[in-house]
This record gives sequence, C-alpha cells and structure tokens, in this order.
Amino acid sequence: MPATTVLNPDDRGIAKAASLLEAGGLVAFPTETVYGLGADARNGRAVAGIFAAKGRPQFNPLIVHVASPEEALLYAEIDGDLLRLASAFWPGPLTLVVPKCPGKLSDLVTAGLETVALRVPAHPLAQQLLHRFGGPVAAPSANPSGRISPTVPEHVVDGLMGQIDAVVAGGACQIGLESTIIGLEQGRPVLLRPGGLAIEAITAVLGASPEPYRTVGVTAPGQLTSHYAPRARVRLNASHPKDGESWLGFGPDGYDGLNLSPEGELREAAANLFGHLHRLDEQGAAQIAVAAIPETGLGLAINDRLRRAAAPRV
Ligand code: TXA
Ligand code: MG
Repeated sequence: MPATTVLNPDDRGIAKAASLLEAGGLVAFPTETVYGLGADARNGRAVAGIFAAKGRPQFNPLIVHVASPEEALLYAEIDGDLLRLASAFWPGPLTLVVPKCPGKLSDLVTAGLETVALRVPAHPLAQQLLHRFGGPVAAPSANPSGRISPTVPEHVVDGLMGQIDAVVAGGACQIGLESTIIGLEQGRPVLLRPGGLAIEAITAVLGASPEPYRTVGVTAPGQLTSHYAPRARVRLNASHPKDGESWLGFGPDGYDGLNLSPEGELREAAANLFGHLHRLDEQGAAQIAVAAIPETGLGLAINDRLRRAAAPRV
C-alpha cells in the first residue's frame, strides 16, 4: 500500500476519493458521528481490506452507508416502525439493522447474516462522496481495532497511515460518538447500541421507548456471536479431501472443489469466505474439508470464523 493521501475537502478531493472507492480502495471520510473507513460494499476484496487495515480480529458486520433513504431501500426491506424512524432521522446519526435483499452486497459486509446495518449520514462531505460514488459504502470507524474512534482526520492519520489509500480531511466530526443502532426483535424495535441520536427522540417518534437489547436477549453489537455457519460439518486444517467430503482449498492444489484463494492470498480468501461457504451449502455438502489457513494477518479472522463454523452446534 502506498502512502496515505490526505485529500482536501473540496470537489477535487471528493472526486479523487470516489475514484479510489471505484477502484476498490480504502478511503476514510468524515461523518457527523465519527470518521468512517470506507470501501465499496459490493466488492468483497475491498471490504476484506477494511478488516486488514484495522487489524480487526473478527469479521464483525459493518455498517453500509448510502446517500438517501430511497437508496437504502435498494438493499434492505424497511417498513413499519423502522421506516418511520428512517423518515424522521435520515440523514442523521441513526443506523437500522434490517432484513437485507439477497445478492446485492458482499457477504463479508454482513458477516453472512440475513440482516444489514444501514445508515444515511448527514455530513455534507459524506453526502457528496456517496452521491459522487453512486453506490453503497461499507464503513466502520476509521481506527485500528481496539483503539477509540477518530473524530478528526489527524486521528485517522495517526492510526492508519500507510494502511489506507486516502483520508478526506474534513475537520472535526460534529457528533463524535457513533450512531445509535436500532434493530428488530420479534417485530419490535430494540436498541442495539446507544449512540449519537438520543433515545428520547426515538421514543417520541415510536410512541414508546425501544427495548434495550438486554431485555430481549440480543447480543451487544461488537460481541456478536450469531455468525453464519453452514449446514455441513466442517473439518479444519485438512491436507486433502476424504471420500464424501467437499473441498475448500487455500493456495495451489489439484483438488476438485472450491478454493478461497488459489494464489494463497489472505485478502482474497477473506473476501471469498462467506460466499464459498454459502455455495457449498447450496451444493448440499455434508462435510466440508478446509485447507489450513496461516494464522497471520487476515488469517486470524478467517480461522476465527472457520472455527465458529466448525464448532459443535447447539
Ligand atoms: O457512527 C457510526 O455508526 C460509525 C460511522 C462511521 O458510521 N460506524 C461505526 O461502525 O461505528 P462500527 O463497525 O464501528 O460499528 C458497527 C456496529 C458493530 O458493533 C456491529 O456489530 C453492528 O454495528 N452491526 C453491523 N451489522 C449488524 C447486523 N446485521 N446485526 C447486528 N449488528 C450489526
Ligand atoms: Mg468502531
């Protein structure tokens, strides 16, 4: 990765940022909450790059940013109470976790879940970038994993210099606290993460306060354990497929089946992981033998996900 470019918050800077996103690059940009680290949410390799740059140990699902509520409806089903919240607070510091439309976003963005977290940011530079790019942008906070979220471009540069293509230097974030996340549990709105939109404002629109996640047994985001697991059993660190097993390779091998990255590239493997597991399920695999993946870089997250997939089912 070349040195990180600091882009001015003007037309030229935004045009450059949009073309970097189009090319599968990683671009940090300001929102009214915190700086996000953006990538094209349809491009699995680009999204995998977010996890690599952040050194994120797990493939937590990411928030997808779009320019307008109308665009959000291209990627998810939003109705009832959540549509009322979208109408009231988008653009703004609200994220909605809603059922996704299949096949439109990289599976890595949603960690293989059936839901997607969507947000329409209000920051003028985020709006300009999203309009110019014209597609969905996956973006977690633009900080190395385990560090606090960045609210000025200098934080982004401190944490991610040399790991990302560019940062749009748009000054301080107005809110400086991540968005409030609302999801649905048994048809009722639940608060998944308190954030930049006050709960009282949400209550005023709903006519009742959303349940805090604790009372409905939803895991706090960030500690999410409900991950995609294939129906098939999974055997890890396999040197070859045994009789009756479906093969999921990594690196050059002569076996029939799928390969996460024939060249043995971890970023490509990460981008392919959820999609390949889905495909093996569709093919009706009973047992999947997975080649050994190195325990370095993105390999840690890939192996974490594979171990979850291989863990005994409840
Ligand atoms: O203000 C914000 O929300 C910032 C700016 C950049 O938009 N973004 C941000 O993203 O805070 P991140 O990745 O740091 O936090 C997203 C949270 C994670 O805790 C994740 O678990 C949760 O959203 N999340 C994403 N998709 C989800 C889903 N389908 N179901 C449940 N939780 C989800
Ligand atoms: Mg974060």
